[in-house]
Amino acid sequence: MEDKKDIRWEKRTRYCGTLRMDDVGKEVVLNGWVQTRRDHGGVIFLDLRDITGLVQVVCNPEVSPTAHAAARQVRSEYVLSCRGMVRARPADSVNPRLATGEVEVVAETVTVINSSLTPPFEIEPGSGVDETLRLRYRYLDLRRPDMQEALVLRSRVTQEVRDFLISRKFLEIETPMLTKSTPEGARDFVVPSRLQPGKFYALPQSPQLFKQLLMVAGFDRYFQIARCFRDEDLRADRQPEFTQIDLEMSFVEPEDVMSLVDEMFAHLFRSVLGVELATPFPRLTWKEAMERYGTDRPDPRWGMEIRDFSALFRETGFKVFRSALEAGGRVRGFKVAGMRSPARRELDGLVDEARRLGAGGLVWVVREGEGLKSPAAKFFSARETEQVVATAGLEEGEVLLLTAGGGELNPVLAGLRSYCAARYAPPSGERFSFTWVTEFPLFDWDEEEKRYKSNHHPFTAPSPGCLENLEEDPLGATSDSYDLVLNGVELGGGSIRIHDPGLQKRIFSILGLSDEEAAEKFGFLLEAFRYGPPPHGGIAFGLDRLVMIMAGRDSIREVIAFPKTQSGSDPLTGAPDIIYPQQLRELRLRPI
Ligand code: AMO
Repeated sequence: MEDKKDIRWEKRTRYCGTLRMDDVGKEVVLNGWVQTRRDHGGVIFLDLRDITGLVQVVCNPEVSPTAHAAARQVRSEYVLSCRGMVRARPADSVNPRLATGEVEVVAETVTVINSSLTPPFEIEPGSGVDETLRLRYRYLDLRRPDMQEALVLRSRVTQEVRDFLISRKFLEIETPMLTKSTPEGARDFVVPSRLQPGKFYALPQSPQLFKQLLMVAGFDRYFQIARCFRDEDLRADRQPEFTQIDLEMSFVEPEDVMSLVDEMFAHLFRSVLGVELATPFPRLTWKEAMERYGTDRPDPRWGMEIRDFSALFRETGFKVFRSALEAGGRVRGFKVAGMRSPARRELDGLVDEARRLGAGGLVWVVREGEGLKSPAAKFFSARETEQVVATAGLEEGEVLLLTAGGGELNPVLAGLRSYCAARYAPPSGERFSFTWVTEFPLFDWDEEEKRYKSNHHPFTAPSPGCLENLEEDPLGATSDSYDLVLNGVELGGGSIRIHDPGLQKRIFSILGLSDEEAAEKFGFLLEAFRYGPPPHGGIAFGLDRLVMIMAGRDSIREVIAFPKTQSGSDPLTGAPDIIYPQQLRELRLRPI
């Protein structure tokens, strides 16, 4: 009876991808999946795959008729156990693209442990398969070598982070998944309570409050590879559930946290990728980052620093600039790296992009001999022309982009930098560029709700110099905060926390939170803070984003075993799904 067959199979003695010339002459047993089967009229070649890679198995009827007969039944993705002898491949069939390409295994036995349906797509790297289909059959998608590499890398990263932090006296402590709303500012995922009908747990947006409580408890240095949940719109670098490398330290200042993090990443990149990072990582204040790059997520590798040309145009006859300057705005711009004597069509493309990004217009200027080519050139005086060339360091054919306005142009300038970097800038030799951005504004003004909001979260400590004028000038206050940016992606952020209840009260009051509201939202933390909280601070990094960049991928979905689609669903399990009326009744919820 077919379904009662008792397949005896031999356990492997070696992994497929590990065989080398040193192994020639050894008898080995391999267990794995059939990547491909090629029948060369008589001899059958199988590529057998396991977690370590592929090796070629040769089934020759003259060596073993039974192995050959078994191999004839075999199809892609069948699970086999093969015993055979390792031998050197003939010189003309060496495959230099394969780590095992100098050897092959001559099969003595081939046991089919399991058959497989024909997979809905080829198990090969990047074969252009629709992502929903990949996620629907994720267990097959994860058999691809590039996906296996990514998850192996992820596991190594986690292990090295753990080893490093534990060597620095951090304790790994878990915090609850079923909890109360946390203050990171996204929407919560909620879980109804059966035992307390009508009440809900929130899944944590981060372990923020619990890690602060652990500092109050005296644990001194905490870390967790923590799962976090945020119900927000998804993008390539956002998932509803994601993982943070989360840490917190007592009796520290920003410098202590940042230098520990520098060391952690230096260790990680050295041990996992063999890459030496130059530390300490460069630091910019938030103000400097906005001024020089138009964004708090700068990628300095592209060059193209933004400069202020206002002084040069104070008296200009070019109305657009003149009126913007008179209205208190500025003329700012940058020289496009890698662009020389462009066609008119490319310059028009830049103007369109600036408009798409929200600018009223964009002035391009191309150096041509001693003069400038630009729609605005005829309005520039000789002195202005000369100074533009000198200030921007414009050489023949080079292009300068100029905008006129206020701070609202920062995103336009930042967007134009990315646009130009993607199209024109020569590739940078630097694979990984880390930048710290510090001293973020403490508050932002929410125009819709007409109130101040914390730029980070309400427990972030103001910069020491800003304590006096907090109430008078909330928007002028900066915080003891720091974000780490890698290749223009926000990798992590953190801050020194407020440990003084009086100061915390002042912050709540600027945020418009009454004592009652604060007590209702974070009462347990405020109460804990009446029992001697130490000065403390920490940071959290997106593990998914980190691994994405280390693996050279462009979406965090490529480094998460079972991610969600853009609409937050999982095509494999069908989640989210409806629940049965019985479950709804138990939870005292009504179906919609
Ligand atoms: P923050 O909210 O800045 O800080 O989050 C820290 C880092 O987590 C990653 N991240 C995400 N990754 C994938 N998908 C998401 N939806 C997502 N949201 C955030 C980012 C981000 O930089 N408790 C504070 C940290 C602290 O102050 O110690 C916090 O969570 O890489």
